[in-house]
Amino acid sequence: MTASPTDTDEIFRPLSPEMLADPYPVYARLRATDPVHWHEQLQSWVLTGHDDCSRVLREPTVFGSDPRRLGLPIPDSVISLQTMDAPEHPEVRHHFVRALRGQDLDRWAAEVRATTDELLRRAAGGPFDFVADIAEPLALHAMCLLCEVPYPDDDRPLRGASRTMVLGMDSGLDPQRREPALAAREVLNDIVARWVSTARTGLFAGFAEIGSIDRRHLVNSAKAVFDAGYSSTSNMLGNVVHRLVRRQPLETERLRGLGTDGVAELGRLDPVVQAVSRFCLADVELGGRPLRRGDVVIAMLGAANHDPAVFPNPDEPDLTRPAGPNLLYGRGAHSCLGGHLANRIGVALLHAMADAFDRIEPAGAARQRPTATQRGLDELPLRAS
Ligand code: HEM
Repeated sequence: MTASPTDTDEIFRPLSPEMLADPYPVYARLRATDPVHWHEQLQSWVLTGHDDCSRVLREPTVFGSDPRRLGLPIPDSVISLQTMDAPEHPEVRHHFVRALRGQDLDRWAAEVRATTDELLRRAAGGPFDFVADIAEPLALHAMCLLCEVPYPDDDRPLRGASRTMVLGMDSGLDPQRREPALAAREVLNDIVARWVSTARTGLFAGFAEIGSIDRRHLVNSAKAVFDAGYSSTSNMLGNVVHRLVRRQPLETERLRGLGTDGVAELGRLDPVVQAVSRFCLADVELGGRPLRRGDVVIAMLGAANHDPAVFPNPDEPDLTRPAGPNLLYGRGAHSCLGGHLANRIGVALLHAMADAFDRIEPAGAARQRPTATQRGLDELPLRAS
């Protein structure tokens, strides 16, 4: 992957081969020299300090998600709970929180574990691609079970659409990705709209009871829940397993003691969601810089999660760290609805790997996905014995 020809920033070039391979040294440099960095091509402020990123997430009345509050246009097709502010946002979010609470999550976790065992059983015996053979189908099964929808007979259109949408998240840096991502969004929208039209219970039902919200925005929100859950979880599983095997073969015995906090700490090392953006709704000072109403800020969660002021020796896992400051799942009004579930999927996977295999090692070079907003792998060849 070559850097976008228009990616002219001196330091912050997220699609450059160097940053795709390892963005953390660049984040460290920016945090030390210019923690509130103006990026000309993105026309945005890039934040790399934990304090600044946390503040942006925690103050939704100053740093908003809804461009309509600034009089900016936004197509109906993309309005979802992720692009809303109060008063709409809490109403829609509450619907999904309640629906998630209504699920029998212990039964769900047992089904996720059984699926994991089956996927690992099929992979055993020869080299396999952890991304295509385990992480993606496992995350998709987990989301289908959670949303009470059938696993697709042919999962390739959905998996392909999701990958294209993840690429499209970087269309600010590489505009050629915009059109394919819009087409992929339609594919996913159609699938989710069909599920919503037949759902009687669960996350995709009960929209009629949220009277004040446009139904299209609720369907978009259902799509956002599904895709946020699927793509983030599958990428997180790949990133975590890659970290575990990349330096030396993994003796799986050490995975047995890991719980949900351990999964989140491993996820912190290479966070899936590297960047989230907000609009300044008022003039505000950040890191000594005057920001104007209407400015866009990008909180680099990947950088915040490696801030040595908060995480001593940030590049190494430390299972004794307090979990609180970890921004893997965001923070505040828009924090992740499913982080606790993603952690449970991670635990199911790591424990199942410990039960199925003694040792796991690379069977070839991992291939990084050429994406910056969401970080993940296209391929992770492994061998297990
Ligand atoms: C390892 C897996 C996951 C990671 C790393 C992750 C990360 C995140 C982050 C960082 C945010 C905050 C975005 C922002 O502030 O703009 C977020 C929001 C969200 N996540 Fe996750 N997520 C994961 C899994 C899931 C799962 C399994 C679900 C669904 C069950 C889910 C549903 C959502 C939704 C709906 C939002 C938007 C919430 C809102 O705007 O109010 N995520 N996620």
